[in-house]
Amino acid sequence: MPIEGASRAIFPDIQEQSMKFKITVIALSTSLALASLAGCIHNNDTETQSYNLPDFKHLPVLVDKDGDPNDNQGTYTLKVESNVQVPVNTPDDNWITPMLRYNGSALPPVIRAKRGDVMTFPVTNNLDKITTVHWHGFKIPGDQDGGPDFPIAAGDSHTYSFTINQPAASLWFHPHPHEKTGEQVYRGLAGVFLVDDEISRQLEADKQLPAGDYDIPLLIQDRRFKDDHNDDRIRELAYKTHTRDTVLGQLGDIVLVNGVQLPKLEVESRKYRFRIYNTSNARTLDIALNDGASFHVVGTDGGLLPEPVETKNIVLGAAERAEIVIDFSRYDIDEKVMLISRAFNGGSMMDMNGGMGRMGGMMNMMSSSDGMDNDGMDSDDVSEMANGKRFDIMRFDITTAASDDITLYTRLPDSAEIHSRLSETDATATREFVMSMGGMGSGMQFLINDKSFDMNRVDEQVDAGATEIWAISNTSPMAHPFHAHAIQWQILDRNGTPASGVDLGWKDTVLVQPGETVRFIGRFDPVINSGKYMYHCHILEHEDAGMMGTFVVQ
Ligand code: C2O
Ligand code: CU
Ligand code: CU
Repeated sequence: MPIEGASRAIFPDIQEQSMKFKITVIALSTSLALASLAGCIHNNDTETQSYNLPDFKHLPVLVDKDGDPNDNQGTYTLKVESNVQVPVNTPDDNWITPMLRYNGSALPPVIRAKRGDVMTFPVTNNLDKITTVHWHGFKIPGDQDGGPDFPIAAGDSHTYSFTINQPAASLWFHPHPHEKTGEQVYRGLAGVFLVDDEISRQLEADKQLPAGDYDIPLLIQDRRFKDDHNDDRIRELAYKTHTRDTVLGQLGDIVLVNGVQLPKLEVESRKYRFRIYNTSNARTLDIALNDGASFHVVGTDGGLLPEPVETKNIVLGAAERAEIVIDFSRYDIDEKVMLISRAFNGGSMMDMNGGMGRMGGMMNMMSSSDGMDNDGMDSDDVSEMANGKRFDIMRFDITTAASDDITLYTRLPDSAEIHSRLSETDATATREFVMSMGGMGSGMQFLINDKSFDMNRVDEQVDAGATEIWAISNTSPMAHPFHAHAIQWQILDRNGTPASGVDLGWKDTVLVQPGETVRFIGRFDPVINSGKYMYHCHILEHEDAGMMGTFVVQ
């Protein structure tokens, strides 16, 4: 496999060049503090025009039980299965990995429904452990939300039902069992849930948003595999094999897009809409094109943006989503362009807290407490890629000329709810949440407001129908994606700077940098929201280790 510098010469990356100095500095300081995380990276920067890549796979769309997609109701049976033999394709190799999957399918499913639809989900848990199905980003009652307080026992069945009552959005679902969310998601359980509404359908009909074959979900997840010791073409997932997996969250060295490492997708010279899901356990993505070209972001976690935002990159923490529109008409036929994650300082903004001191100190404490930093890359059967390392995600091969009939919308219709922005004066309550990390090594604590998760404790009481401001601060040395169930929020400001650009969209998960305070505002729907919900860091190992709290709406 070509090394970084060589491939860059063949396939120069404009942005990368300008960031080179910065990367070198980061790489140097990182290698001091995070010795085992820097170093040989399997899949970085490998691509050339000619390099042969595995084919892109489209996620399977589930079919409604009654077969009628337009009757305002949908029933989908989900069977939670273990030991599903999943083929994993990479540019170098193919193998089988036993995974957990819904309905025994090799790939995560897509469910599609429309606002107003009444949904029914009979779930059978065929695992030998508890699970739940949590509906991430949905405005639904607490008892349908699939949180850790409603486990489905091994062998049991449970039916979720709710009505979809929110704007068109790229939502998703995943297990949420107590202390095991990270492992079950990592081992393969997640699904895409696309909600349509009148507005999105009209925009698609009017050719103001790419739809159908030109609207493609990309589920991006990094994974680490054990070696195929017996050479039987089976590689198991490696999960939490080091203390650092718990501390930094589980990172992998192989980034899968819809289950394939570095796939190629043949595209026409026209606009496409990609629903980018960062469903990694812990990794942050900084999505960009390798030629530095701009694209439009048209949607965030909870729906379409009031106006498309033109940008060259978008940062997505774990669980965040973005709908982006890439215009391939600017390329010649036979050109290729790579979707990448740009380099960034993954112990990120430690400078704000006095350079490498804090994270470096924390990692040193870990190494002195359990020697976790002494297991160098070579002596280990697993490797990983530091958060913030640049890598290629997938390649678009422009193969077919097409006349593009899409003229992107410039402003959503007036009826779109996102236009009615809540303001500070609408709020009836303000709550503060401080995310912190303390202790060391395997004894490290992950806290919100100095508390570790207790399912039986109610941390916050919210009045039904209240409009609230939640101010989330991060006093730890690493970024945390804060997620709250129950509603979609509007960001007010970050460290006092009013929201702009992609921050003007609906959000259910917000990446909060070290030293940052993000304030968002939202209204708990008096008809829908009642009962108990969770808020937590969506680095799933942090959540499982206690960086979670509960709130009750009544
Ligand atoms: Cu996607 Cu409580 O989680
Ligand atoms: Cu959620
Ligand atoms: Cu966290």
